[in-house]
Amino acid sequence: MFITFEGIDGSGKSTQARRLAEALRGLGQDVVLTREPGGSPGAEEIRRLVLEGPPDRWSAETEILLFTAARRDHMERTILPALTAGRIVISDRFADSTRMYQGLSRGDLRATVDRLHDLMIGREPDLTFLIDIDPATGLARAKGRNGHEERFEDMGLDMQRRMRAGFLALARENASRFRVIDGARAPDEVAAEVLTLARAALLSR
Ligand code: ADP
Ligand code: TYD
Repeated sequence: MFITFEGIDGSGKSTQARRLAEALRGLGQDVVLTREPGGSPGAEEIRRLVLEGPPDRWSAETEILLFTAARRDHMERTILPALTAGRIVISDRFADSTRMYQGLSRGDLRATVDRLHDLMIGREPDLTFLIDIDPATGLARAKGRNGHEERFEDMGLDMQRRMRAGFLALARENASRFRVIDGARAPDEVAAEVLTLARAALLSR
């Protein structure tokens, strides 16, 4: 089973992906926890190219190619081998992030993102948790981390608002794989709901 976490910056995806991996391992499941951009040695190198530097370092089109190249390597080297071996894969972000960040941020490039996805990736997750949060809260949390990977966080609050609306629309369009989670609650409460929904999905397979 292939599970992804999506949402705007600072929504709590990394926290919840880690918590779900730990909880499922505690139940005896074999889990691979991974992330995008990254998740394989080559894709981690591309991560540095896309996340560091000034906001205008790449055009949106070039970014689509770089994120998709990273994802292709991540699929080949990490995700598909693990799924083939019967393991559960949990990824902190996946293709829905490209649909939103590169598809919406600078003009409407969603069709280009989708075409390249069909050509080079061609696979959707079985289950996607959208951790939904007010953008001001998310941005404050993300800024609190004080890291170097700020190219997208620097795009500001208005952009995060459009991303949030875009993610919610995507969840409505793909209701069978999406679960929308209220991320404004305490981490334990969010983790408990995520685990309940993940277990239900695992049992129904
Ligand atoms: P994301 O991966 O979506 O950017 P993180 O899981 O890295 O989010 O969380 C961003 C920051 O907010 C971290 O400092 C984390 O400890 C904190 N955080 C995560 N979940 C919550 C929560 N439910 N309530 C308050 N703070 C949280
Ligand atoms: P991430 O490390 O998950 O950041 P955060 O913890 O702040 O959510 O992702 C880094 C940034 O990369 C994030 O701002 C979103 C962006 N991103 C894209 O623009 N396109 C993509 O396809 C992916 C996977 C991430």
